[in-house]
Amino acid sequence: MNLTEPQSLPEQEAQVLQVWGRASLQGHVKISGAKNSALAIMAGTLLCPQACRIRNLPSLVDVTRMSEVLSALGVQLERDGDILDVNAGDIGNGSAPYELVSRLRASFFVIGPLLARLGVAHVPLPGGCAIGARPVDLHVRGLQAMGAEVRIEHGMVQADVRGRGGKLQGGKIYLDYPSVGATETLIMAATLAEGETQIENAAQEPEVVDLAHFCRAMGAKIRGAGTNTILISGVERLHAVDYSIIPDRIEAGTLLVAGAITHSELSLSPVVPEHISPVIAKLRAIGVKIIAETPDHLRVIPGALRATDIETLPYPGFPTDLQAQFMALLSLSEGNSLITETVFENRLRHVAELNRMGANIRVKGRHAIVHGVPMLSGAPVVATDLRASAALVLAGLAAEGKTTLQGLSHLDRGYENLESKLRQLGGNLQRVTPEAKEREDSPSGVAQ
Ligand code: EPZ
Repeated sequence: MNLTEPQSLPEQEAQVLQVWGRASLQGHVKISGAKNSALAIMAGTLLCPQACRIRNLPSLVDVTRMSEVLSALGVQLERDGDILDVNAGDIGNGSAPYELVSRLRASFFVIGPLLARLGVAHVPLPGGCAIGARPVDLHVRGLQAMGAEVRIEHGMVQADVRGRGGKLQGGKIYLDYPSVGATETLIMAATLAEGETQIENAAQEPEVVDLAHFCRAMGAKIRGAGTNTILISGVERLHAVDYSIIPDRIEAGTLLVAGAITHSELSLSPVVPEHISPVIAKLRAIGVKIIAETPDHLRVIPGALRATDIETLPYPGFPTDLQAQFMALLSLSEGNSLITETVFENRLRHVAELNRMGANIRVKGRHAIVHGVPMLSGAPVVATDLRASAALVLAGLAAEGKTTLQGLSHLDRGYENLESKLRQLGGNLQRVTPEAKEREDSPSGVAQ
């Protein structure tokens, strides 16, 4: 496996990102392949005994970690730029190693394909993270409804269908919550099950649809992806595929906010506008113009920012993964905005960091009341999760003075070169190691 991928190395862990404020950005930025499609589709390659080619793969720490998990399962991988060649023809015993799975929650998605391919899967229970407990009960209950015997012992999920004829059975599954991961796990499991599986109250996210398209391209029989009811008729085996991943709607939304918060005109592509229609609607409500120049090309034209309310919901509602970025924007929008986070129980931790930069935000349970201020001031801040780190970078670009962001491992997990993309647009950001930073800030140092 090609290891020259972004790794979150110890010295990188210690690095900080310096962001100089009052930035004015301009130009065009390319959107990378969708992280949350890439991770699910990489797990999906385990379903196929032949070679698969995946294109438009983003270079992210999370993608590298998923590659390590697949490699440990016996999958052959070869990476060349944004192309990944995968061959899961000869996968081992279906046991994913704890030390790798514990570093990437999404690697739990391998449980469905392993069970479908081998009839057995031993996958460590993924830990919680900063934004919530992240249980997997919906994944487990769905697999049990398909005939799997599932035991959770010593932090390991042991799933097995060998005692029941060796194959998963199609079944009718109702998800208490339209969980993205559970929907993806069950779609993958059902592709090789016996009979028909119906998933009700399924997640409708574009990444779920992308995974379904990938599986169909391998010969799976799936209908209804993108609606709340998905039907999968099991087939004997799947075949090779050459598949390109959709653009990352969350990165696109993040960069639209970058334009809005710095009062800069930017264009970005490729993007699928209907994947971010709630985001575009909210930006327009805030006072920003969004123009679709071509079917996959958006332009943001800044305007005076005014308050609006946001409630995160499963797709097609407003995405939780853009809540923090919009909070940064609304902290500079005139008036009071109410932001409600309904998807994760602990995804408002960036409020304290934004307040350190002069924002005026109060948290009450799942609600954040944002009272817009005329200006933020640069400050040392800490990223608490992947999307909060992006929100703090955006706030730093708009603030007066310099912001120093710690916790860059979060940023590297989910954004392909966000810093270099923002620098290319005219942003003034640089990653330094603290000792170098101290030297630079010292009187003798040459401060920027
Ligand atoms: C996916 O996480 C994404 N990750 C998340 O993106 C995204 O925020 C989330 O979907 C919601 O859109 C990947 O695709 C790799 P869920 P997932 O299952 O699948 C509860 C990012 O920043 N739940 O839809 O874990 C859960 O606790 C990341 O890119 C159960 O109760 O999300 C949460 O409250 C963050 N039991 C809610 O459902 C379960 O078995 C939504 O979770 C599963 C989930």
